[in-house]
Amino acid sequence: MASELTYRGGAASPSAGAAGAGEYSSAKPASSKPLAWLPRAARYAAAEHRPLFALVGMLFAAALFCLAAPSGSGSGTAAPYSSSGRAAAVSGALTRFSVDPAAHNPGRQFVAGKVPLGLKRKGLRVLVTGGAGFVGSHLVDRLVARGDSVIVVDNLFTGRKENVMHHFGNPNFEMIRHDVVEPILLEVDQIYHLACPASPVHYKYNPVKTIKTNVVGTLNMLGLAKRIGARFLLTSTSEVYGDPLQHPQVETYWGNVNPIGVRSCYDEGKRTAETLTMDYHRGANLEVRIARIFNTYGPRMCIDDGRVVSNFVAQALRKEPLTVYGDGKQTRSFQYVSDLVEGLMRLMEGDHIGPFNLGNPGEFTMLELAKVVQDTIDPNARIEFRENTQDDPHKRKPDITKAKEQLGWEPKIALRDGLPLMVTDFRKRIFGDQDNAATATEGQ
Ligand SMILES: NC(=O)c1ccc[n+]([C@@H]2O[C@H](COP(=O)([O-])OP(=O)(O)OC[C@H]3O[C@@H](n4cnc5c(N)ncnc54)[C@H](O)[C@@H]3O)[C@@H](O)[C@H]2O)c1
Repeated sequence: MASELTYRGGAASPSAGAAGAGEYSSAKPASSKPLAWLPRAARYAAAEHRPLFALVGMLFAAALFCLAAPSGSGSGTAAPYSSSGRAAAVSGALTRFSVDPAAHNPGRQFVAGKVPLGLKRKGLRVLVTGGAGFVGSHLVDRLVARGDSVIVVDNLFTGRKENVMHHFGNPNFEMIRHDVVEPILLEVDQIYHLACPASPVHYKYNPVKTIKTNVVGTLNMLGLAKRIGARFLLTSTSEVYGDPLQHPQVETYWGNVNPIGVRSCYDEGKRTAETLTMDYHRGANLEVRIARIFNTYGPRMCIDDGRVVSNFVAQALRKEPLTVYGDGKQTRSFQYVSDLVEGLMRLMEGDHIGPFNLGNPGEFTMLELAKVVQDTIDPNARIEFRENTQDDPHKRKPDITKAKEQLGWEPKIALRDGLPLMVTDFRKRIFGDQDNAATATEGQ
């Protein structure tokens, strides 16, 4: 090494001197060197043009750095969040969300720069808890269709694999059988938190589990959202208004809920879930959204789940009497599931936290609903009155002014248009296949 240095730097080749480098350098008198006043190391560097090389190297590195840096001011974090190719389907609101994930979680450091080649994300990664259920599976269909990578977490208590089986094999879809009461760590950009039994039959089956799902499950999902900097949407319910004293219900109404009744595990559970969601927003700066969903119906609802639309449809198809609880004058509003999914997605992508009522303001008494079911399925279906259940609210109708104004959303599908779509699905599931269904229909 020493001899090589001597060769390149000196006037003579190593062969010219009999001794090593030390001898060579000491052979020249110091006084004969230029820049003799400099220390020896600096003199050597100057003689070898080292500063020039260093300067060229620095210029080269600077040029490389400029070329590799992400374009646009301060948007270095955008690439991993918005690298989707599905520009048209995702609205401008989504772009807004994509731009600054750190803004909704300032405690979290997002590393600027490009994701290494081959690790670049394709679209949004979305977690849907309860995604194998009725509403969740329709939401998953829409998210997958727009190009997102969707992870469903569901314990299949009321959900069914069949609801999402058509996505099996799609690399953009994953399903994890997991109970949200237990923590889980996933990397996603958005969390739609739906996991919770929604029908009275199911949520009353194990009330302690229901409230645990609402409280501990929601805490776990909020904790996850905080940790990974994801946006979180809670599917709350019109049940937070209890047996309302105000009609129709506006989001500012605080409700009239029995805290110790048989429905409280659900009603109070959802109210607590809303509280937790807002506390995470205020305390941890989490980006949150809250939807208060009113009665929704459509294909893939659980048959015999005690919800009035599915009850009536299943009963009419099976030629059983339609059971009406109480005098049948209590009112409900019914929204078709595709309207709800549209509202949920607009809420998630939009700028407003909510809560937002998402429901169809068209109000029906139970007897009017029974009449629509008779008209759609079997005009001869009988109605049977039963004693009303405890805490059954008398009136329920959403005021959706806020959703109209801030989300630009309102339901589109009328009950008489949506019901036949649900009937086709129920007929298939109750009678097995189309042939049987046709036979059953002919026999009516
Ligand atoms: N459908 C409606 O009319 C309506 C009205 C108001 C609110 N909501 C809310 O919307 C959400 C979805 O309702 P839905 O009608 O699709 O109900 P659903 O029962 O069909 O779906 C709920 C899903 O959550 C899953 N789940 C339940 N507990 C879980 C747990 N501990 N861990 C993991 N998964 C769990 C179930 O297996 C199911 O797949 C619920 O949060 C519900 O409260 C629905």
